[in-house]
Amino acid sequence: MKKFSLIVAVCENGGIGIKGDLPWKLKQELKHFSRITKRIANSNKRNAIIMGRKTYFGVPATKRPLPERLNIILTRNPCSNDYPSEVVVCTSMQEALSKLGEPPLVDEIENIWIVGGTAVYKEAMCSPQCHRIYLTEIKQKFECDAFFPEITNDFKLVTNDTDIPTEVQEENGIKYQYKIYEKVLR
Ligand SMILES: NC(=O)c1ccc[n+]([C@@H]2O[C@H](COP(=O)([O-])OP(=O)(O)OC[C@H]3O[C@@H](n4cnc5c(N)ncnc54)[C@H](OP(=O)(O)O)[C@@H]3O)[C@@H](O)[C@H]2O)c1
Repeated sequence: MKKFSLIVAVCENGGIGIKGDLPWKLKQELKHFSRITKRIANSNKRNAIIMGRKTYFGVPATKRPLPERLNIILTRNPCSNDYPSEVVVCTSMQEALSKLGEPPLVDEIENIWIVGGTAVYKEAMCSPQCHRIYLTEIKQKFECDAFFPEITNDFKLVTNDTDIPTEVQEENGIKYQYKIYEKVLR
């Protein structure tokens, strides 16, 4: 089974979202998200991003589906009219991962990214297929109504990706830092 990684930005009080949107405006951090989730070694392939229905509809209508990546949306109430034909709609994480593990997607997709929200991250973190969490640690508190699950000691902080800055970043007076956690094999 192919491994996957999570990518998330989390503030000091553990929040990731408010009213279906992000609690902060960080243009460079969003660019980081795009760059990392699009990153491929084989230019004939692309990556897949798996997300919950609210995360998908939280993306402005003009910007979704997110380009250059296969968008896979999880919902228990799939209604094909709500989604463009180029996205894949699944009723469970297992269905999404099974589709990605068999032809034709197994040959077309290079990396699998889990991009939220809360329950999707939680299920992903428990899976033996989970490899890493690419976390942006936002060093400020924000009012939030969606939160990141606790990172258990199954995960250890690892040396950063050479491609990702380690020093503290700052945008609009908000400080943040990229961190990578890797699941420890037991
Ligand atoms: N800071 C970040 O990095 C980040 C990343 C992602 C999202 N966000 C924010 O987080 C918020 C959205 O997250 P959320 O936790 O509220 O919602 P979400 O996970 O995006 O969506 C929840 C919905 O996804 C579907 N779903 C979830 N798990 C499923 C499963 N295992 N099988 C089938 N369907 C499943 C269900 O849809 P149905 O109700 O249709 O069945 C559920 O109601 C927004 O504010 C967004 O901006 C932030």
